Amino acid sequence: MSTWPGTYADTGVFVCFEGGEGSGKSTQSGILRDWLQEQGYAVLLTFEPGDTIVGRELRRIVLSPETGQLADRTETLLYAADKAEHVDTVVVPALGRGDVVITDRYVDSTLAYQGAGRSLLVEEVEHVARWATHDLRPHLTVVLDLDPRHGLSRFAGRDRIEGESVEFHERVRAAFVAMAQADPEHYLVLDARADIDEIAAQVRDRVGPLLAQAVRR
Ligand SMILES: Nc1ncnc2c1ncn2[C@@H]1O[C@H](COP(=O)(O)OP(=O)(O)OP(=O)(O)O)[C@@H](O)[C@H]1O
Ligand SMILES: [Mg+2]
Repeated sequence: MSTWPGTYADTGVFVCFEGGEGSGKSTQSGILRDWLQEQGYAVLLTFEPGDTIVGRELRRIVLSPETGQLADRTETLLYAADKAEHVDTVVVPALGRGDVVITDRYVDSTLAYQGAGRSLLVEEVEHVARWATHDLRPHLTVVLDLDPRHGLSRFAGRDRIEGESVEFHERVRAAFVAMAQADPEHYLVLDARADIDEIAAQVRDRVGPLLAQAVRR
């Protein structure tokens, strides 16, 4: 699908959690962080959108229901700006120090939500998102796969994106799985309905061999 080659950091380890709303990304990224820290690894747990100063403003705009309708291109560019700032000021410096960087959402979320979810061409969204991130890829992306009806029911509140139709969220889910199937070396797809500890164990099995590139402090 993609004509972008992908760049992989040669120090540090870059792990990403992707999946729909309520699929367990924050739960699993926290469990992985704790496990790595117990073994003495330097870990940075971060997220998109919003984990920089300008990113907090961008997150408020894209997720607040008060924003109302945004043109699809505007939404895509706001997410891309968040990613550019996040990669340059947070992710790349931490990888350079040899940290394990765990991010809760990354480029695949924009390809799935703005590309597959909205009526934009995925190739165009991908161009913007790859450019914004220097085409830096995670060594491993864990896709927590879940029926959107199930995931959305894990919540009461709805933000701008969570409030989209089930069909929208079905397209998002299919996009995550398709990206994973196209590149099995860099992806792990897990059934998000499984037990939390069982999911965490499967994540550890895939992350373990990557840790040769990480530093212990
Ligand atoms: N495997 C699981 N089985 C059942 N419930 C789970 C599982 N994983 C997480 N949960 C619960 O589902 C809810 C959503 O989990 P979490 O916040 O980790 O998802 P998320 O993917 O980060 O959601 P969001 O997209 O809103 O950030 C939480 O209440 C969490 O405790
Ligand atoms: Mg979360």
